[in-house]
Amino acid sequence: MNPLIRVNKLCKSFPGVRALHEVHFELMAGEVHALMGENGAGKSTLMKILAGVYTRDTGEMRVDGQPVEFASPRDAQAMGIGIIHQELQLMNHLSVAQNIFIGREPRKGFGLFLDDDKLNAQARDILARMHVNIDPRTAVGTLTVASQQMVEIAKALSFDSRVLIMDEPTSALNDAEIAELFRIIRQLKERGVGIVYISHKMDELKQISDRVTVMRDGEYVATVPTHETSVETIIGMMVGRTLTDIAPAQHTEQKGDIALEVRHLCAGPLVRDVSFELRKGEILGFAGLMGAGRTEVARAVFGADPIESGEVFVKGAKASIRHPCDAVKRGIGYLSEDRKRFGLATGMDVESNIVMSDLGKFLSCNMFLRRAQIRKRALHFINLLAIRTPSATQPVRLLSGGNQQKIVIAKWLERDCDVLFFDEPTRGIDVGAKSEIYKLLRSLAAQGKAIVMISSELPEILRVSDRIVVMCEGRITGELSARDATQERIMHLATQRETLKAA
Ligand SMILES: Nc1ncnc2c1ncn2[C@@H]1O[C@H](COP(=O)(O)OP(=O)(O)OP(=O)(O)O)[C@@H](O)[C@H]1O
Ligand SMILES: [Mg+2]
Repeated sequence: MNPLIRVNKLCKSFPGVRALHEVHFELMAGEVHALMGENGAGKSTLMKILAGVYTRDTGEMRVDGQPVEFASPRDAQAMGIGIIHQELQLMNHLSVAQNIFIGREPRKGFGLFLDDDKLNAQARDILARMHVNIDPRTAVGTLTVASQQMVEIAKALSFDSRVLIMDEPTSALNDAEIAELFRIIRQLKERGVGIVYISHKMDELKQISDRVTVMRDGEYVATVPTHETSVETIIGMMVGRTLTDIAPAQHTEQKGDIALEVRHLCAGPLVRDVSFELRKGEILGFAGLMGAGRTEVARAVFGADPIESGEVFVKGAKASIRHPCDAVKRGIGYLSEDRKRFGLATGMDVESNIVMSDLGKFLSCNMFLRRAQIRKRALHFINLLAIRTPSATQPVRLLSGGNQQKIVIAKWLERDCDVLFFDEPTRGIDVGAKSEIYKLLRSLAAQGKAIVMISSELPEILRVSDRIVVMCEGRITGELSARDATQERIMHLATQRETLKAA
């Protein structure tokens, strides 16, 4: 049997970047094939070539054994290849059904009018097949990211794809939604669809994939059967070395003065009477299920959302924070979980993004930016965080997803805040870089910074935090010291819902 897809010796360069060099890849019908590699390894680029988004420089590409050339995504779709991109590409103002069938809407009246009823019925049909309960008439912009993800999948399925490429589909999904996605994947697999699955989460690979292909620095490393290969081996192949820093981090027992105190904070339904304190040199983990209100607490303290009641004290002094500028002035930083919307100017280059939050520092008396100084700072962070970019002047939108995330981190480190909120700092970041970021958080704490880390990954919370606060439905349901915390205890608190009291 011919593989659905086979690529051989594929090469692709962008100006200044050799993204792919002689890469091999093969996908069988009914197979879930995971693609692994560090940030910037070339995973998305390879998949975009298969989906007709980019054209290759050299190399061979076959579908069903026949050589193919794709000039556009349309050509790939015609061969049954669908892709769900790492960054969602939906039109927010259009409805779910319009997004699914964009450019292929059914028409009536001799093709003069759109047939909305038929459009919605067809969309409803596809969503029903996926057992997803979304009204096809809803505007996509009003859906949660998870539902938007499902719409992307529906769109890919609407082409009757025989090949479905999923580029980090679970980065914004919670456990229940991931289970739902896996159910859909298994269903497709049974129908003989070949699936390419890209993720940085090792446990997902183990659960869902049949084979794994590992890439490093744009090159093919190996393809192995998932069930016969240990996670350590896969990581070893990805990073080309063994990771030494797997031991739990050192926690600080002695803490400094109180850097931030929040008393009885209320802000909308997901911030109900929240109180906590944070000391210098401490990393406070915020655990909870998605939607527990952790991001909302950070946003309220940072002045990004209005506060209804409650008080915030910074270094003992009461602070009235009505706007992020007030927060930044008082030395509070917030690394958003949504880098595209709040974190980055993706059209600007790497160095401008890094120094953007603190341009004042780089203004010389004649008001010209001190270019050389900016360059020096930018290179410092590119080194520190191992950001993969051909130069400091590369537009951020051309970096890989994980490297964009690192720029957001660099940007806030540059700002030199005393109190830092990190919201899902390692989302989309590869295993090697993750442990670098943990080390970085620890060293920031050792320098006396006060850190709040919000994370949905329990092992990460347990590993990094000195103390853990758990939230459920907008309330703090408990606090654990690093020594007492276990996954079970956290989960117990994270699901401690308020019993509804009669009014
Ligand atoms: N359009 C482009 N122009 C210039 N360089 C690009 C472009 N697209 C990707 N690159 C570069 O090619 C390399 C591979 O990027 P790619 O997005 O394929 O990585 P990835 O493996 O998907 O990483 P991640 O895990 O971070 O998503 C990176 O160095 C990236 O900066
Ligand atoms: Mg990618």
